[in-house]
Amino acid sequence: MLSIALPKGRLGDKVYQLFRDHGYPCAAMEAEDDRRLVLRDEASGVQYLLVKPSDVAIYVEHGAADVGVVGKDVLLEGGNDVYELLDLGFGRCNMCVAAPVGFREDLSAPLRVATKYPAIAKRYYAGKSREIEIIKLNGSIELAPILGLSDVIVDIVETGATLRQNHLEVTETILPISARLIANKAAMRFQAAAIQPLLAALQTQTSEGAKA
Ligand code: PRP
Repeated sequence: MLSIALPKGRLGDKVYQLFRDHGYPCAAMEAEDDRRLVLRDEASGVQYLLVKPSDVAIYVEHGAADVGVVGKDVLLEGGNDVYELLDLGFGRCNMCVAAPVGFREDLSAPLRVATKYPAIAKRYYAGKSREIEIIKLNGSIELAPILGLSDVIVDIVETGATLRQNHLEVTETILPISARLIANKAAMRFQAAAIQPLLAALQTQTSEGAKA
């Protein structure tokens, strides 16, 4: 069986619909209130592992899943040793620096940066030779500058609603993010017969996306 790690939640729902629309349905996935974390579809020879979005690349890197779908933000942060096969063209957002509206940076002091993405933030500011202090949080990052815990945040911005509603604004865009299909390196050799048709089916999606 081909094991596919899917991110639970918002992105996972979209990914499953994509798989279903391209010939990889899974009846168990459509059942309401199903709390199982491994769902199999015998007909297509696929099993789906439902994991936390930030853990997808870890499952794939260690071979617990053959392939997976993950945000580029997670890949850049984790630096996982996996193949990135395809940009799926959805889950689009930007990795940004944001600050309270009207914020003036004190260049004589280290910049206090709150983020879920310490590796991305460190790399970005190292590239600008700017000294920073990282405050690692796990969610609701926008609260940090409001409470004076940090000067700025480094976070993903999709619609911008969370920033606006918390009186913050983007000050710098670091890079664009989207969902990627990734594969375990050994699985690309030993499961090639199962991975190649999946890749081919999903490639039609990205070309459809490019046309739309
Ligand atoms: C993410 C991100 C922002 C928000 C951006 O948080 O950390 O807070 O979404 O989306 P928007 O630009 O459309 O408002 P998420 O919903 O994953 O929750 P979290 O705060 O627990 O990280």
